[in-house]
Parts: sequence; C-alpha cells; structure tokens
Amino acid sequence: MKNKIIKYYLNNHEHRVTFCYDKEAPDITKDLTRLQSDKRMLLVIDDSINKDVIKNFFKDLALSDFEVHVLKVKGSKKNKNQTLLFQIIDKLIKYKLTKRSLILSCGGGVVGDVCALASSLYLRGMLYYHIPTTMTAVVDSCIGGKTGINYKNIINSIGNYYHPQNVFISKNILNLIPKREFLAGFAEIIKSGFLDNKKILKILSNNKKKILSRNFKILSQIIYLTLKTKIKFFKNDIYEKNKRLNLNFGHTFAHSIEMSLQSKSSDVIRHGEAVGIGMLCEIYYSEGKNKKFTMLKNLLKKYGLPINLKKYLVIKNLNKMKNSIYKNIFLDKKRLNNFPRIIKIQKIGRPKVIEMRNNERIFETIEKVILSL
Ligand SMILES: NC(=O)c1ccc[n+]([C@@H]2O[C@H](COP(=O)([O-])OP(=O)(O)OC[C@H]3O[C@@H](n4cnc5c(N)ncnc54)[C@H](O)[C@@H]3O)[C@@H](O)[C@H]2O)c1
Repeated sequence: MKNKIIKYYLNNHEHRVTFCYDKEAPDITKDLTRLQSDKRMLLVIDDSINKDVIKNFFKDLALSDFEVHVLKVKGSKKNKNQTLLFQIIDKLIKYKLTKRSLILSCGGGVVGDVCALASSLYLRGMLYYHIPTTMTAVVDSCIGGKTGINYKNIINSIGNYYHPQNVFISKNILNLIPKREFLAGFAEIIKSGFLDNKKILKILSNNKKKILSRNFKILSQIIYLTLKTKIKFFKNDIYEKNKRLNLNFGHTFAHSIEMSLQSKSSDVIRHGEAVGIGMLCEIYYSEGKNKKFTMLKNLLKKYGLPINLKKYLVIKNLNKMKNSIYKNIFLDKKRLNNFPRIIKIQKIGRPKVIEMRNNERIFETIEKVILSL
C-alpha cells in the first residue's frame, strides 16, 4: 500500500503527516533534500522504545551521506524539564548543527514537546521531524505545534509554538506501543469525536475488537480523522485565541489532576487517562450526569480508561487530594479574570468555551466525578 500523506499549510508553509505502511519506509533523505537540509541531524530517541521498530526509518539514511548523531533520553512527565531541554541543546552545540540541520524526535508526547521546543530555540529555529511512539503522541501531540516543559510543577508553563515539517506514523510502531500507552491515547480520539466528528464515536462504538487488535486499516482511519479534526481547529488559530481553545475539552481538570498526582519518582497517571476523567468533569460541571456523560463514561470504559481516580488513591489522601485538585484548577492557562475556563459540549459537534464561576460546583465535581464519593 502506498504511504498516505496529510498536507496542511501554515503561513504558506507546507507541513505533512506521513502514514507509513509495512514495507514502505519513508524516504527521509529525499524529503530533507526538498527542505534544503544540510544533511546533518540529531536523532533524539526515547530509550524505552524497542529499537527494531525504527530500523525501517534508517535504512535509507544508513546508505546515504547524512551525518546522524544519536541522543538517547528518558520520556515521562517527570523528565519534561529544563535538564532534558538543555541536554538536547548541548548536543546541537557540540555537533555544530545549523539552522538547516534536523532534529528527528522519536518518542511520546514528552520527547516530542521538548524536542520541538529545542528546535525552535536553537539558532531561533531549525528543521524538525517527529516519529510519535505513544498513541497520545500519534493522535494529538505530534501536530499543532505546542511545545513545552513543566516548570515549578506547572504543566507546560514554559513553551511556544513550533510545527514539525513532517510527522511519520508507522504501522510497525503502532503494533509495539505498550498497552497502557496505546489505550491512553483513546481519550484524545474520543475528545475529537465529541468536539466535531460523530463518525469517530461511531467507529469506536462498533469496532472495539478490531481496534484493540490494532487492525491498521481501521486504526489509520481513526488516526486520520482525529488529526484532521485537530487541524481544522488549530489551522486558523495557532495561538489559541478562539476556536483552538475547544481542543482543551477535558484539560482544565486533567492538568489539575496530573499536577496533584505528580510524584518525583514516577508518572502516576498518563496524560490521556487524566483527559478522560477531565472530560467527564467538564460535562458534569456544565450539565450534570446527562446522556452525554453516560455515553462518554461507557466509551472510556470500553477502551479500558479510568472514569475516576479511585484506583490511584489511598483513602487517607482524599481531603488533601480534593484541595490540591481545586487549587491547581486555578492554574489553568486559559483563565481570564481569575476564572478557569472549560469546554461545554452543547451538543456533540458544538463545543463552547465557558468560565467556571461556581466554586461549590467545582468542589462537587471533584467529589462526585474525580473521587467518586
Ligand atoms: N503538544 C501537544 O499538543 C500535546 C498534546 C497532548 C499531550 N501533550 C504532552 O504529551 C505528554 C504525554 O505524552 P505521552 O503520554 O506520550 O507521555 P510520554 O512521552 O512520557 O510517554 C509515556 C511513557 O511511555 C514510554 N514510551 C514512549 N513510547 C514508547 C514505546 N513505543 N514503547 C515503550 N515505551 C514507550 C515513555 O518513556 C514514557 O515512560 C504530556 O507532557 C503532555 O503535556 C502535548
């Protein structure tokens, strides 16, 4: 099967997402020649990845006259910080890479977001490609250009917008994503369905078996539809002043949950898992336990995603957790006039940004949904 490509244009520049089938390795060298690269690159790769899966990508590189440097790093949110950022920048300096050199990141949302930030900062911008290796990265973080690191325990408090020239989605990589990193991405897929595309929800409802067995035909269809939905929302609002805000459905509560659960030693909850619970919260805050709430809850359960934090907590933590989640909600980056903002799904396909002005309702949402009391 021929590689399928999504092309989108930002400020008259072409950006691509390339779907790579079995034997069809992308010709990275040819693609880089199109971008007038100086044929030098830093490959930044998450150490947890099974290296066999990316061999395909480097077949043509190995035969080419490209200079390839490799930096192995550790993904996970606890490493999404200035240390990782400067580790990458130090290598760019060490190898004297230029604006026409490439960073090729191979990893999940963490490696992708930090590499994109490094690409944007080094010499005020160099070429950037991404090979996403978790489902969250495949269906969401690989496009849209949001870069970032966490600082002072505030998620993505430092970052900017920088778009990869190309993203490669590979069948081989999808097949080897560990179960938890695979399922976590379904929250963002479900999100796209609620925001814009009932077809996605229908496919998810009717094809669980094929999807969970990673049938590439159906998986690439939902990935394609989810990415197209995202592009539709950010294309004319890159800096998130307006329509793009809707893509944050679930994220005000999700980020607050992630910050409250973040520990120095491990990632307790995956971003996607928190987004699923966050979407339930935002529907509950806006309208209570209605039909949409039940539909979302059932879909999350169907794809093995948590619907509350019960399994992550010990009882004696409850009050502390409630207060911490409440406090962190007010760090929402979308807030104006001190009121955090969330997305209300008026009906499927019709989202609206609203302010949360009712503190009692916020507490009730935390108790009833997140803690399921
Ligand atoms: N830029 C955006 O638009 C955007 C959108 C969504 C999420 N994000 C960010 O993405 C991050 C979450 O992404 P994530 O869930 O991919 O986290 P992650 O990158 O930390 O990956 C999760 C875990 O899986 C491991 N891993 C990655 N790929 C693997 C593979 N193929 N095989 C085995 N292990 C693998 C990582 O080492 C890590 O331990 C958060 O920081 C979030 O803020 C950004």
